[in-house]
Amino acid sequence: MISEFPGSIHENRIIGKSIRHLPVVDSTNSQLKAEVEAGLFGEGSVLVADYQTTGRGRFDRQWVSPPGKALLFSIILKPCIDPGEQQLVSLLVALAVTGGLDEHFGKHEHDSRGNEIPYRDEICLRLKWPNDILCDGKKMCGILCETGHSKSGERYIIAGIGLNVNQSESDFDAGLKGNVTSLYVETERIQQRGKLLGLILRQLEVYYDRLQETGTRWIAPAWLDRAGIQGDILTVIEQSRTISGECVGLNREGALMVRKHDGEIITVYSGDIS
Ligand code: BTN
Repeated sequence: MISEFPGSIHENRIIGKSIRHLPVVDSTNSQLKAEVEAGLFGEGSVLVADYQTTGRGRFDRQWVSPPGKALLFSIILKPCIDPGEQQLVSLLVALAVTGGLDEHFGKHEHDSRGNEIPYRDEICLRLKWPNDILCDGKKMCGILCETGHSKSGERYIIAGIGLNVNQSESDFDAGLKGNVTSLYVETERIQQRGKLLGLILRQLEVYYDRLQETGTRWIAPAWLDRAGIQGDILTVIEQSRTISGECVGLNREGALMVRKHDGEIITVYSGDIS
């Protein structure tokens, strides 16, 4: 059977030069990690799967999707960054996914007088710190970045992306109802996963090039600009403490800065926003 996914993105220099598609894996992150450590695949290689038996999310949570409905893939990245800047790579990947989806769903057409009319499938995406993409306030995409060292001692990041594409409401666990959504639920149209993958990888190539050429300084401001959360009142659950306050921005490592009600500004490196 011909795969619905391209074998490569020809016009890209690094990202998606090799795209492999497997029907089942344990987790695309775990499989690609084993492969990069064995020296089998290099920077920019992509692994896509129709189904994961043990898909993983942040904090060792399970990531479950029915066969063939979600876009589940991982990429090997080897960015020239300091170890403390890893969080910025998650933000960059979130920008690329959002950029790819914006390109596909956010386009405007013009009527005969040249007035903009919204594209019929327009969807409203929102970035949620640190690495979620929401649509209509519900989670549509999660990103899991994991680091390691190859045999030669080279540092790598596996960026794993789980995008809910063609699931219907009944495909989600009852416990998640109201908190998750898919492109199909939002647009009432079956979407082509291969096309979406291509759009995302083209965007990622652009962002990754910029990172390699100019460094990381622009990533947190770009993310913040797209997320529009500066000034919002947030509740952050960080390990054992819950902090509430105003979002004053991100620091240079991509950590969230929150001004508590007593005026103290705290920096949150890992946690969940509610
Ligand atoms: C999260 O929201 O906690 C991150 C979820 C990341 C899920 C993706 S699916 C593809 C890749 N393989 C995995 O096992 N996890 C990531």
